[in-house]
Amino acid sequence: MARDEILSSSPVDDDPEVDLIEDGIRPRSLDEFVGQADMKDQLGILLEAARRRGQAADHLLFAGPPGLGKTTLAGIVANEMQATAEITSGPALVKPGDLAAILTRLDEGDVLFIDEIHRLPRSVEEVLYPAMEDFRIDIVIGTGPAARSIGFDLSRFTLVGATTRTGLVTKPLRDRFGQTHRLEFYSDDDLDLIVTRAAGVLGVTLEPDGSREIARRARGTPRIANRLLRRVRDYAEVRADGVIDLQVAADGLALFGVDQRGLDKVDRAILHALCVQFGGGPVGLSTLAIAVSEPGETVEDVYEPFLIQQGFLLRTPRGRVPTPAAWEHLDLPVPVASEPAPGLFD
Ligand SMILES: Nc1ncnc2c1ncn2[C@@H]1O[C@H](COP(=O)(O)OP(=O)(O)OP(=O)(O)O)[C@@H](O)[C@H]1O
Ligand SMILES: [Mg+2]
Repeated sequence: MARDEILSSSPVDDDPEVDLIEDGIRPRSLDEFVGQADMKDQLGILLEAARRRGQAADHLLFAGPPGLGKTTLAGIVANEMQATAEITSGPALVKPGDLAAILTRLDEGDVLFIDEIHRLPRSVEEVLYPAMEDFRIDIVIGTGPAARSIGFDLSRFTLVGATTRTGLVTKPLRDRFGQTHRLEFYSDDDLDLIVTRAAGVLGVTLEPDGSREIARRARGTPRIANRLLRRVRDYAEVRADGVIDLQVAADGLALFGVDQRGLDKVDRAILHALCVQFGGGPVGLSTLAIAVSEPGETVEDVYEPFLIQQGFLLRTPRGRVPTPAAWEHLDLPVPVASEPAPGLFD
């Protein structure tokens, strides 16, 4: 694969229109980045210290469910360090040479962003170890008896990795990052700020209770909050003179299938499959994925983390199980067996 092809592979969103709109909304500095206070403190200190020493910042790994700000943070790191960013992704780096081509052209202090770093092929990952640790790579050229290894010194760069699956990042790779941050789902207050700010950028008239309603139903996820804002704006322009208040937000969200708790059609299909189709489980991931017609990886990375965080679903060694809250959410009677056993004084 040509280097240009690797570098142009978009790590952000498949939809170019979304990308353009995101450009204005995406925070550019740590100050603009809402929430994740502990992470921001630690990252801020690491960047400030590196800046004072005039050195490249230490390597950083950001982990967490989609849409919580990993790519945004990679951009912020580059920005705060006034560094040039090279962008690529795990699956785009097929051969060791693909990575070597990028590494050898990095300048002092550059930021290399590798999205979906858990999907790096093993042979490519091995090139990364000495590159991260000693800023050096050894490339084997040729095969058989004629093969020889050539060493290159690299400029001191900052690797920023992003992953939706910390579990799949190998230990040797994880150990070579100076800081690893697990992003958490955002609070309603944080999402409220994010939606309000985005509305300002988009020029949308958003009343405080309308913003609150969108925030509350955004699955703790800034990307979803921004997406819901755009859908509700469409609705408001067609049905309500463009002003988003509580009623307009609630009606718009209902129209687009987002319920009171922020669950969408697929979330509810998952709960329905667990509670009704499989009578409370436990259900294996692949069976559940087939039941809701989504890839297993999507169910595991995109849907389950929020359902678990909200207490609707449990992952047990034998499979997925719904909690009583899942039945209640679907307006179904909670089966007796899954109610807690009566206490001594009941
Ligand atoms: N802390 C934040 N404050 C304000 N806006 C945010 C924040 N985090 C994310 N966003 C918004 O959400 C959008 C999605 O974030 P981003 O693309 O960084 O997510 P991601 O974690 O890289 O997701 P994926 O795993 O799908 O690549 C951004 O374009 C940005 O507008
Ligand atoms: Mg991303």
